[in-house]
Amino acid sequence: MSIVLGIESSCDETSAAVCIDGSIRSNIIANQTIHEKFGGVVPELASRAHQQHIIPAVEQAIREAKVHKNDIDAVAFTRGPGLLGSLLVGTSFAKAFALARHIPLIEVNHMHAHILAHFIDEPMPRFPFLCLTVSGGHTQLVLVKDYFEMELLGQTLDDAAGEAFDKTAKILGLPYPGGPLIDRYAQEGNGEAFPFPEPQVPGLNFSFSGLKTAILYFVQQKQREQPDFLQVHINDICASVQSRIISILLNKLKRAASETKVTQIAIAGGVSANSGLRAELMALGEKQGWRVFIPRFEYCTDNAAMIAIAGYFKYLSKDFVGQDVVPMARYGI
Ligand code: KG4
Ligand code: ZN
Repeated sequence: MSIVLGIESSCDETSAAVCIDGSIRSNIIANQTIHEKFGGVVPELASRAHQQHIIPAVEQAIREAKVHKNDIDAVAFTRGPGLLGSLLVGTSFAKAFALARHIPLIEVNHMHAHILAHFIDEPMPRFPFLCLTVSGGHTQLVLVKDYFEMELLGQTLDDAAGEAFDKTAKILGLPYPGGPLIDRYAQEGNGEAFPFPEPQVPGLNFSFSGLKTAILYFVQQKQREQPDFLQVHINDICASVQSRIISILLNKLKRAASETKVTQIAIAGGVSANSGLRAELMALGEKQGWRVFIPRFEYCTDNAAMIAIAGYFKYLSKDFVGQDVVPMARYGI
């Protein structure tokens, strides 16, 4: 039997999870609400909140998994990419835990972990598969050849898809993080009400900064003509923005699938929680004859279950690191 403790602290979620023989037994996520009033994550505050939350989160994860901390065989932690101060808290905790308990330490790439979340529950994809990873910091099209053998086919040249949601929300006067709110308003709106432009980006790369500017100018102009424009049309605006972000993502995904001839398609990351994206991907998959994999909601946004499962695979191949390991704000796939 193998018991792996997973620790995630790359951004504003402090999370701890326990994985027993490849099965997730607990996944505790402590959200940091402090950032709401600043309209985005404040790195310094995030580090301090991690420091406060990490011990209670780990204790609860161990308790819920009904294991004893003496029985944990290895500790896996997010090494990067992410906010350095946040990563340092999780890394230092994991090092101390491994040192005190004389157990191996396992480093995990956060972007790998988002993808490997597909191996928590059935149905699981078979290699090779394509994964569109869309989060607050990344937008990547990845060809996944094996658990830790991944090829980056395309990525965003500017803002990430999650940022496009969050920055639009800010323009619309909605609180941070705006993605889930836009999703909610969009469900009541018409996605074709305001056709925002689709950027022309070569190859399999993405760009979202032009869309953000187009939305800003559009809202400013409309508000000059009609001061209550936002209040009256919020559902249609959200639906139109969301529909454009989804079409940008799915058009590139279609292109990647046709270029690689891969028919197993997955999505991962915080934006994969978006109900419109999930529904449209299912419909597109049916049309294209793809097998589509969509993570459970709790495994879309940042969580330690995905770190624990990635750690479990590394544990099996004895892929450990020493106490001299350092976190990395940038960490390629
Ligand atoms: O993966 P994640 O939790 O953190 C990063 O690693 O960045 O992703 C967070 C991002 C945020 O931008 C948030 O607005 C977005 O995911 N998000 C959503 C939804 N839920 C979370 N965007 C659109 N619709 C949602 N339902
Ligand atoms: Zn993430």
